Amino acid sequence: MSQPQKGVCAEPNLHAQYLSLNVVDDESDAIKEKLARVMDIFDHYENEHFEAMVTGMVAVGAGYWTELYPGPIPEGLAPFPQMQCEDRSAPNTPTDLFIQIRADRLDICHAIGIEIMALLHLHVELVDQTRGFRYLDGRDLNGYIYGADNPRGMKRRQVAVVQAQEPDFVGGSYIHIQRYRHDLRRWMSLSQRQQEQVMGLTREHNLPSPEQSSSSHCVRAAASGAQNDLPSMVKQGMPYGDMNEQGLFFISCAASAQPFKAMLHSQIYGNSEGDYDRWLDFTSAQTGGAYFAPSVTFIRSMGERIT
Ligand code: HEM
Repeated sequence: MSQPQKGVCAEPNLHAQYLSLNVVDDESDAIKEKLARVMDIFDHYENEHFEAMVTGMVAVGAGYWTELYPGPIPEGLAPFPQMQCEDRSAPNTPTDLFIQIRADRLDICHAIGIEIMALLHLHVELVDQTRGFRYLDGRDLNGYIYGADNPRGMKRRQVAVVQAQEPDFVGGSYIHIQRYRHDLRRWMSLSQRQQEQVMGLTREHNLPSPEQSSSSHCVRAAASGAQNDLPSMVKQGMPYGDMNEQGLFFISCAASAQPFKAMLHSQIYGNSEGDYDRWLDFTSAQTGGAYFAPSVTFIRSMGERIT
């Protein structure tokens, strides 16, 4: 059985460290071997500091996959679906690797990050490092409980992990990331009622709001989403920020790359009446990347073939 990486289906944590890296040499054999060792680093911290609930994930960028792992390519792995309409945009800012480190202890996240960078530093440049944190009772900085519709238990696996439909990649997951920057000053200037119109949900409990419309975030995002009563992605994103800049580091893990693209399209371009996602008037994507997070089994076996 191919074991998915823990970060794909993980339960929420208190802290996150996100690393986006570009590989600067062509030593792909060394990278394969070192990515297998990153799995060992995650295991080590998971065992030594079990109370910290460490979960990790390494994902390989759409543009780097064939160089790293020549041979079969995950069917849906394609460059990030860049989109632009009026002042709403989803840029494509690809990197070769994306690493998600999560734990309930900030020091452990930091220690794992340092160890991974020490292992990889000869081969990579760090393009982006962002620290995520749990905010209040699992809310986005806009005040809404985030990820409330994530499936629970084994259903998470069903939604986020590739099954028999792609035999070479069972246990893997399609990853899309976007770092959103919120204009919270503008958002906070809205009344609660106006915010509920924008999100389409009540702020306290995420219940459908009487003010919901076809431009509400939850309506636009769901327009091309769920099948069989299950959502089509597991949301693993978390809030990030400091006193100058804040937002959500959006991460979607899914068994197929299609639903993310369809949802983003529905949000940015809207329906035929021009109803786009009004939440995008208050936040904007600064980055965007498409990756595949292979199973632990895959990463280890590819790493071992060299040594
Ligand atoms: C800054 C960015 C975003 C924020 C703060 C945000 C926030 C939220 C919140 C608070 C909810 C309701 C609770 C929940 O189920 O999570 C929600 C629902 C949802 N969001 Fe987002 N979201 C963001 C971006 C996106 C993006 C980029 C996508 C997909 C491309 C997306 C897809 C969805 C979906 C599918 C739902 C569930 C809709 C339903 O069936 O009711 N969101 N979002």
